[in-house]
Amino acid sequence: MRIVLLGAPGAGKGTHCKRIVAKYGLLHLSSGDILRQESAAGTTLGKKARSFMDTGTLVPDRIIVEMMVGAIKKSPEKSFVLDGFPRTVNQAVELDKSLACSRQKIDVVLNLIVDDRVVIERLTGRRSCPQCGAVYHVKNLKPRVEGFCDNDGATLVQRQDDSIKVVENRLKVYRRQTKPVVDYYKNANTVCDIDANRNADDVTALVFVYLDSLVKA
Ligand code: AP5
Ligand code: MG
Repeated sequence: MRIVLLGAPGAGKGTHCKRIVAKYGLLHLSSGDILRQESAAGTTLGKKARSFMDTGTLVPDRIIVEMMVGAIKKSPEKSFVLDGFPRTVNQAVELDKSLACSRQKIDVVLNLIVDDRVVIERLTGRRSCPQCGAVYHVKNLKPRVEGFCDNDGATLVQRQDDSIKVVENRLKVYRRQTKPVVDYYKNANTVCDIDANRNADDVTALVFVYLDSLVKA
């Protein structure tokens, strides 16, 4: 199964991708996570991407398509879940072209729908583990010991682009450049809309019911 998870910043793409991976054993490819790893490692790609990420604007398509299509091709896994990619119609077209070369296609697009005020509350309260990538929230998804990762005890950190000003810009960019991607996939009849304003376990249950129905079909 090849899945794309779409949704505004803070819709829960990362949270639900991790749960999908744990249940269905797919490969998780997050464009944002890969860019943050490149940036932390100080690579040329990471340095180029940083200025875009810090202001909440999109990294140019050419860079992202090369990075993500390359990651898909390198992987021996044929089943994957994409998180944060594609984010422009051009990226979606390039992804489809690349998959078509090996007679593959995107099977399912899960579109997480969330209100702006929920996004702001979620992102300003998000904390993540710099070692294993686990994601928490100061109110909704607390770690067992405040400020430390349940998995490895590392000190949790706040993402640089989670300030209110940058989050507001990320929402504008989402509306302008990423919402058209939903329509692109709707034309191909592959989209399942999910109400992502609900608590994380309820959203996961909706996602699993839908994916189970496809696995059994
Ligand atoms: P990226 O890392 O993809 O960020 P994003 O899309 O803005 O999304 P987030 O990661 O902030 O949110 P999420 O939906 O994963 O939510 P999460 O599960 O963490 O991209 C960052 C930047 O990289 C971009 O701005 C851009 O510059 C660049 N970039 C990346 N991909 C690109 C591309 N394809 N093209 C160009 N540029 C690209 O949840 C958020 C919080 O809410 C957490 O604390 C979580 O615990 C909590 N939470 C989640 N779900 C629920 C729920 N249902 N109820 C309560 N709390 C919840
Ligand atoms: Mg994410």
